[in-house]
Amino acid sequence: QFQALLARARDGDTDAIGWLALGVAALVWLMTRAAQALATLLSPAKPAEGLELAYPPLYTEGFPVVGNVAAFARNPLQLAKRAYAQLGDVFTLRVGPKRFTFLVGPRAHEVFFRANDDELDQGPVYGFSVPVFGRGVVYDAPLAIRLEQFRFVSTALRAARLREYVPLMVAEAETYFKRHWHGTDGTADLLKSLSELIILTASRCLMGREVREQLFEEVSTLYHQLDQGMQPLSVFAPHFPCKAHWQRDRARREMRRLFASIIANRRKRYQEIAAQAESVGQDPQQALEAAKEVDVLQVFMDSQYRDGSRLTDDQITGLLIAVLFAGQHTSTITGTWTGLLMLRKPELVTRVRAEQEQVLYDDDGCFKIDYDALLRLDVMHRCIKEALRMYPPLIFLMREVVIPRTYRDYVIPKGDIVVVSPPLAMSLPEVFADPDRYDPDRYAPPREEDKRVPFSHIGFGGGRHACMGEQFAYLQIKTIWSVILRDYDLEPVGPLPLPDYSAMVVGPKPPCLVRWRRRTP
Ligand code: HEM
Repeated sequence: QFQALLARARDGDTDAIGWLALGVAALVWLMTRAAQALATLLSPAKPAEGLELAYPPLYTEGFPVVGNVAAFARNPLQLAKRAYAQLGDVFTLRVGPKRFTFLVGPRAHEVFFRANDDELDQGPVYGFSVPVFGRGVVYDAPLAIRLEQFRFVSTALRAARLREYVPLMVAEAETYFKRHWHGTDGTADLLKSLSELIILTASRCLMGREVREQLFEEVSTLYHQLDQGMQPLSVFAPHFPCKAHWQRDRARREMRRLFASIIANRRKRYQEIAAQAESVGQDPQQALEAAKEVDVLQVFMDSQYRDGSRLTDDQITGLLIAVLFAGQHTSTITGTWTGLLMLRKPELVTRVRAEQEQVLYDDDGCFKIDYDALLRLDVMHRCIKEALRMYPPLIFLMREVVIPRTYRDYVIPKGDIVVVSPPLAMSLPEVFADPDRYDPDRYAPPREEDKRVPFSHIGFGGGRHACMGEQFAYLQIKTIWSVILRDYDLEPVGPLPLPDYSAMVVGPKPPCLVRWRRRTP
C-alpha cells in the first residue's frame, strides 16, 4: 500500500502527497516523543559528579518501567502512600516519561507553597483545563496576564461581595429543600441533592440572574458536557479524538455564544438606564451603579487590566467556567462528607443545633442567616474543616519545576513535577493525632492542631495560590446545613461510603443516603 501511495505521489496525485506528508509528520512526532521518554528513563538518578546534593530517592514497584505506571493508574494515592512509608518525606516516582517528586508534611510543603510562579509553574501541569476554560484564560495565559485574571477572581470573591451573595445562597437552599424534600419524611442521596443545589447557587451568584432565571437548564447541560470532557484521559491527551472531547468543544463554543449575548444585553440595558437618568437630570453614573447586577459576571465585565483594556467576552466566559469548576465538585463533596460524618455523631449534631439556636435566632425567635452570623458558627466550621481534612477532594496539587529547588540534602531538578498530596499529608499522626478519627474539636483551643506549624491543614492549598473560594465555600456549606438542620431530623443509611479515587475530584462513592423527617417548626 505504501508503495502504491508512493507511486501515486510520484505521478503528482495531491491526495497521495498529502497522506504521505501526514504520515511523515506523525512518524517524526512519535519518534520525538519516544526519544524524550527514553531520555527521561535513562536520565541519571543522581546529579553529575561533583554536585553536593543528590536527587531525591526513586521509588519503583513491580516490573521495571511499567510497574509504576500500572500502580499509578490503579490508585495513585495508595502508590504515593507506599512510597512515603518506605522513603520518607521526599521521593520521586517515575511514571512513564514523567518524574513526579512528592513533598510530604508541613516542613516539606514549605518548598512548594513558598515558591514563586517563576520557580514552580502551574501552567504546564494544569494545561489539560485549557480546552474547557478556553484559550488565553488562566493556565493558557502568559504569567502576567494570568495573575491579573486571578486578581479579578479575587475581587469577585472579596468579603464585601460575599456579604451580598449570602441572601442568594439562603434563598436557593430554602427553595430547593422545600421543593425536593417535601412531605413528612423520605430518603435522599446527599451527594445528588447537594450537587443540584450547589450548581443552582453557583449559577445565581457567579453567572447571574439571567442564567438562573431563564437559561438554567441550558447552562447546566453545557456544564455537564464540559465536565464530561475533563476525564483522566484528557489530562494526558486533551485533544484525543473522542465523543467526550467533541462534545466538550461544542459546549465551550455554545457557552461563549450564550454569554456574549447576555453581556451585550446587559450593556445595552445599562446604556438605556444611564441615558434615561441623564434625560431627567439625574447623575447617570449613580443610576448605573444602582442598576448593576450583583454577581461574579458583573465583576468580570467591570474589570480592567493594568493597561486599561478589558476582558473579552470569551475571556469572561472562560473565567466564569474556571470559577464554576473550581467550586462545584469541591464544595458538593465537602458539604456531603460533612453531613455523612457529622450525622454519625449525634452529640455533635446536638452541639451544632445549640450553636445554631444561639447564633441564628434573633430576640423575637426569628431565624435569620446573614454573612456575620455564618462567620460565628464555630462548631459547624470545625465540622466542615475536619471533613475536608479526612477527605480532601483534590488529592494532588502540582507544579512544574522551572528553577531547581532544594529540600534537605536533595535537589529537585528542572522539569520535575512537584506534588503535594492533601489526603496523604493530612493523615500523618505526627501532625494530626489519631488521624482516622473524625474529631472537629482538634481545631478548638487549647489543641488547635492546625495552628502548630504552617501548611499542616492544606485542604484549601496554601501560599500564593491558596484557594480563593475558601470563604465562599464555607458560607455556602454552612448555609445549606443550617437550613437542613433547622427543618429536618436526619439519620444516615448504611455504612460510611468509601472515597472514589477513580474520579478527577475525589468524593464519596454513591449512594450517600440519609433518611430525613420534617421537624415541627
Ligand atoms: C484553588 C480547594 C472551593 C476557587 C484551590 C486549591 C485548592 C482548592 C486545594 C489550590 C490548588 C493548587 O494549589 O494547585 C477547594 C476546596 C473547595 C474549594 C476543597 C470547597 C470545599 C472553591 C470555590 C471557589 C474556588 C467555591 C470559587 C467560587 C478557587 C480558585 C483557585 C482555587 C480561583 C485558584 C487560586 C490560585 O491558583 O491562585 N482550591 N476549593 N474554590 N480555588 Fe478552591
